Amino acid sequence: MSVTAVTGSASGIGAAVCQQLRAAGHTVIGIDRHQAEVIADLSSSEGRANAAEQVIALAQGKLDGLVCCAGLGVTAPSSSLVVSVNYFGSTELIELLSPALKKGTKPAITIIGSVAASQQAADPHPMIDLMLSNDEQAARALADELGQPHIAYAASKYALTVHCRRLAVKTGSTGIRLNIVAPGAVETPLHEASKNDPRFGEAVRNFIAPIGRNGQPSEIADAVSFLQSPQAAFVHGSIIYVDGGMDAMMRNGSF
Ligand code: NAI
Repeated sequence: MSVTAVTGSASGIGAAVCQQLRAAGHTVIGIDRHQAEVIADLSSSEGRANAAEQVIALAQGKLDGLVCCAGLGVTAPSSSLVVSVNYFGSTELIELLSPALKKGTKPAITIIGSVAASQQAADPHPMIDLMLSNDEQAARALADELGQPHIAYAASKYALTVHCRRLAVKTGSTGIRLNIVAPGAVETPLHEASKNDPRFGEAVRNFIAPIGRNGQPSEIADAVSFLQSPQAAFVHGSIIYVDGGMDAMMRNGSF
């Protein structure tokens, strides 16, 4: 049976992914700051190395899947933390776990991006280049200097999506599939905190998808479960929007 590691497993989308993968027969290794098989802080290199070491030990060196859900929203304590968790908390962990994934059976990685990333495509922020050039210190410094967590959030998800699409081209021949799920507004503690934030709450509450409602974590997990399954064997480097039509609403003249 597949052994799959899931970051952000204690809450929201990550918890729903764990539930579905377990129901489908995967052995799941949850990674989070609390209530997980692997307790680790993905905001630093040390924490990521610690997470990878524990996962590799629990998986006995061979991993079949990785799902990166851990993330912070606009109410995070700082913009630099958003950069470190959302971008480097996924990209560095993928790098550290790739040797174990290469030994896995039909290995697959799914990353949780965001529909917010599409908005950055029109006006890319310099923070994105710093993330893509793997300069965590400089990207963090610029994020804090700007002090705009919604821009740090969108930039982190845009950079993550670009990084993963580039990586998918490189890793195709290694047999590791890699895809991105881009959710719209999904009812989780992260979204609830954003709705109640005095700076961003009104915009978040008014951002209604064409389908007329927010998503549930299980609806994002449905897409992740598909991407991690043998039914998605030819899906690689793709972005699947699970957003009730938000991306279509914002960018219906391009794709
Ligand atoms: P959530 O707040 O319910 O869950 C996030 C999980 O990540 C928590 O369990 C938290 O402890 C963990 N986490 C945060 N920082 C961490 C760290 N330093 N080390 C280890 N774990 C850490 O949030 P939600 O909504 O389930 O978010 C999951 C992913 O989905 C995030 O990447 C988020 O950006 C993304 N997303 C969420 C949307 C939404 O509307 N809820 C929309 C688009 C994307």
